[in-house]
Amino acid sequence: MRGEQVIVVSNREPYIHLQSGDSVRVQRPASGLVTAIEPVMRACSGTWIAHGGGDADRATVDGQDHVSVPPDNPCYTLRRVWMSKEEEQGYYYGFANEGMWPLCHLAHVRPVFRLTDWEHYKTINQRFADAVVQEALTDDPIVLIQDYHFALLPALLRERLPNATIITFWHIPWPNPESFGVCPWHEEILRGLLGSSILGFHTRLHCRNFMESTDRFLEARIRLEESMITFDGDHTQVNSYPISIHWPAPEEVGLWPSVTECRSKLRAQLGVKEDHLIALGVDRFDYTKGIVERFNAVDRMLEKHRELRHRFSFVQFAAPTRSALDEYQLFAEQVTRLAERINARHGDANWQPVRLIAEHQDSDAVTSHYRAADCCVVTSLHDGMNLVAKEFVAARDDLAGTLVLSEFTGAARELHTALIVNPYDVESTADALYQGLTMSRDEQADRMRSLRAVVMEDNVYRWAANMLLDAARLRRSERISA
Ligand code: G6P
Repeated sequence: MRGEQVIVVSNREPYIHLQSGDSVRVQRPASGLVTAIEPVMRACSGTWIAHGGGDADRATVDGQDHVSVPPDNPCYTLRRVWMSKEEEQGYYYGFANEGMWPLCHLAHVRPVFRLTDWEHYKTINQRFADAVVQEALTDDPIVLIQDYHFALLPALLRERLPNATIITFWHIPWPNPESFGVCPWHEEILRGLLGSSILGFHTRLHCRNFMESTDRFLEARIRLEESMITFDGDHTQVNSYPISIHWPAPEEVGLWPSVTECRSKLRAQLGVKEDHLIALGVDRFDYTKGIVERFNAVDRMLEKHRELRHRFSFVQFAAPTRSALDEYQLFAEQVTRLAERINARHGDANWQPVRLIAEHQDSDAVTSHYRAADCCVVTSLHDGMNLVAKEFVAARDDLAGTLVLSEFTGAARELHTALIVNPYDVESTADALYQGLTMSRDEQADRMRSLRAVVMEDNVYRWAANMLLDAARLRRSERISA
């Protein structure tokens, strides 16, 4: 791939510039996608095109809307694309997050499809296509399109850059054809995605769901054994590429505070004893993450194990997200009320079992909490991958700590030695949490060793490399047959 131009397109930008009094501060968003793509961009110095959404973003760009990032060590270019409030409302909040997000996550929130949102979605996909064409230095760049904000972009680009290698990665689940068919524009979405040379999902199940949806709604030729779709004369390879994280190098781990320090610091902050047991949740404040189910499991565990009173706390980070949408506000209120009820039921003036911290955290704070916790709990009701599970494992070089992991995450297909749960089953999730908190050090180490081997091996570079290698093979065979 040496010498090839790599362009990434995503909605969310990796650095947001925000006005803070007279100065500008930079924020890293809470996004699994950004966590995964950033190390790849650092390694290949390409161009990343994304929506400039920060209130000080415009002040930081040059005449071509470019800014070099990361701010402390610039090594690739961020090209910002602008949109009006109304366009953002329709494209991002409306079609992407009230339509596609609940459509693809079968988490009991009904998708909403409005014609005006769809019109904005089409306009913004077109605007990103213009930006890619402007940024392309050759007629055959490698374009990596990220996620459900850009279902139409692959076909728009295929028209204008016919020789480009277009890799689209869908970071969220793909539903079965019956569920997908409720979207009034299901055909256009499939046609848009089939402009991709390679279309990636986290799991084989989502690949199959996509191929079955195409089979149901389009006149396409589908070769299941080769995972290949031919539509309108173009070929799309549909493959699974489980995403991962950057595995920290020994020098990076050396800069982390020790586990003992992290444990003492968190326990001092909570005003509890050194041997106090702590379970941790780290999520965006999103209804797909199963936070209600998780708190119900905490409640049940405290009912069953009264000896844990005053000896256990659940710390939940919930980063505010998409808060302009009613469903997100209602969910945040519901979770807050539930935490209060559990605290009122079990706690007293000296001890509150649930600490809900609905604030954005920087990555150092999150790592320190991963190292301080006895158990990390991921109970998503539906999740493409879930990188929190993998980040937790990477943070535990002491081989201690346990992971409770929902079977409805892509991560559960790889992290077999986690305590796998069905979060809808409160009783067994409560039991798994208890098992995680009371497991012997030897068993923790055995399980953590296998978890770490998986994440270290299948890290984010492997994820990107597998896609880029498939792209290179494709380019070679296209050149030969040209
Ligand atoms: C998920 C999506 C990403 C998105 C992230 C944060 O991980 O797959 O595309 O960036 O959520 O959501 P937000 O709406 O804040 O970008």
